[in-house]
Amino acid sequence: MCGIVGYVGTDQCARLLLSGLRRLEYRGYDSAGIAIADEESGEVRLCRAEGKLDKLEQAYRDEPFDGNVGLGHTRWATHGKPVESNAHPHRAGRVVLAHNGIIENYLELKEELVERGREFSSETDTEVVAHLIDEAWSNSPQLSLHEATQAALDRIEGSYALAVMATENPEELVVARNASPMVIAHGGGCAYAASDIPAVLSYTRDFIFLEDGDTAVLRREGIEVFDAEGNSTERDVKTISWDPVSAEKQGYKHFMLKEIHEQPARITDTLRGRVSVDRGEVELPELRLDEQTVQKLDKIVFVACGTSNYAAQIAKYLIEEVARIPVETDLASEFRYRNPLITDNTLAIAISQSGETADTLAAIREAGELGARTLGIVNVIESTIAREADGVIYTHAGPEIGVASTKAFTTQLAAVSMLAIKLGRLTGRLDVEEARTLIEALREVPNHMEAMLEDTSQYEQLARSYHEARSFLYLGRGHQFPIAAEGALKLKEISYIHAEGYAAGEMKHGPIALIDNEMPVVVLAPKNSVYEKVKSNLEEVKARGGRIIAIGTEGDERLETFADDIIAMPDVAEFVQPMVSALVVQLLAYYIADFKGTDIDQPRNLAKSVTVE
Ligand code: F6R
Repeated sequence: MCGIVGYVGTDQCARLLLSGLRRLEYRGYDSAGIAIADEESGEVRLCRAEGKLDKLEQAYRDEPFDGNVGLGHTRWATHGKPVESNAHPHRAGRVVLAHNGIIENYLELKEELVERGREFSSETDTEVVAHLIDEAWSNSPQLSLHEATQAALDRIEGSYALAVMATENPEELVVARNASPMVIAHGGGCAYAASDIPAVLSYTRDFIFLEDGDTAVLRREGIEVFDAEGNSTERDVKTISWDPVSAEKQGYKHFMLKEIHEQPARITDTLRGRVSVDRGEVELPELRLDEQTVQKLDKIVFVACGTSNYAAQIAKYLIEEVARIPVETDLASEFRYRNPLITDNTLAIAISQSGETADTLAAIREAGELGARTLGIVNVIESTIAREADGVIYTHAGPEIGVASTKAFTTQLAAVSMLAIKLGRLTGRLDVEEARTLIEALREVPNHMEAMLEDTSQYEQLARSYHEARSFLYLGRGHQFPIAAEGALKLKEISYIHAEGYAAGEMKHGPIALIDNEMPVVVLAPKNSVYEKVKSNLEEVKARGGRIIAIGTEGDERLETFADDIIAMPDVAEFVQPMVSALVVQLLAYYIADFKGTDIDQPRNLAKSVTVE
């Protein structure tokens, strides 16, 4: 969703802002804009455009301007259509600002402001903030821009990351954060602000992560942070280990393809230092769970959205199997509104790549308030869920730029697999020998994936044969059921082909009516404890003329009798099969979408991080 980049320094900043916005494109947006203060006159000029950044760049080239203080924004429409007048930055009087988030009480504020004679030029919730700051400043001209912003924030309810600048005040940028991320940085006579690290990662790796309620003033000479009460405060500077290159395509056609190929390395990173085959142990000190607490757990509740929810569903199979602790999974958006049953002995776990998904954040907060111990399985360090949960397991996927989750998902699976082993050891359900076997299997996954990625030509052929299908059905049983759902989600989001993921045993209870010789059915049928059952379901599809793509264990000749096409996956332990079959469904979706020529990295209507409800 929306992105912000800001700069105060000695360089002309238009290029920096536009390239920063390019690095935020992956978040999803439908209009964009920049604002830059003219050094001589102090006037702030805006350039905004509906649609993609190419249009903004063209508009900027038509009437270029520059200066050394500025901000940029990509907007994903919530209030008001994605048209130029609603694009950020917004101006009211002397104040110009960009905003991520939602101002919940904007309608009543707008009414008040209109009554006092303020004129609005957009349909957005954001514009009220610009007016409130300008009004506070006009009424009390002795205030600084920061103080006027603070006064306006006192009136606002909702979530925001804000970057504010003003005409005749070309020396500084004011930023604020509440429930929407904002990082700031200073070095070499320049200060940077960004809603996401990749926007300015080429210039600095040392960041301050603002906390909820913080505001900050950015100047060439330095930055000053204020806490929610308005007191000047110190925040730690954290060094990011990602290198800027990891946020580039590196010769791959799409970020998604690059991220699919990165998975062996990122899973290795996620396991590194945490698993020991020799000792049959998993070390997750960040978990902050001792044996006694685990012994007392009445249940584990997972909350997550989208692909992360499928990781949670797989976690249920793994943890219940290995640790024998009851596990529930909930879509975060449902959990929040259904009066959930939580006790002091419940462990609530949020799975979130971004660590900022609004529903997941609200759900884990709710679970915490109801007395549960909370844990985040998160990729983005210092994200809100990571900071608020009692414990955190970081997945080390690195920055994921493609909107569709790939390496974030398989590293989540690596994390929940480690968690299952850890809990199994703590409950005593898993002995050292059994743990060793599972850890060994986990450690082998990256090697298997490397081998699978060596030759992907089969997927290109399948894409050619199946790209015209109007609808796909994905079937799986056990922990291959969430993989079926994930495969269908991947396909629909990047290729725009309708797809449904179903539990194979449920097929007869409805979806079987859809099967005919037009309908490709992807069946996840690796050799495991439910293989024979899945094979019966395959026969049922075959009997109705369905076109079957079977994903099976290499060398399984029995599948040839039923399947039109077979994708072989290596013969791995059942415990780690989801990670391996996830790679297969990702590649299938990717190559079908590529054949169709869709916008794979930024599919229509989708945002990378869904920070609104
Ligand atoms: C699909 C996808 C989404 C996310 C979902 C949750 O490919 O990426 O379904 O999984 O929006 O996002 P996070 O994990 O950031 O909470």
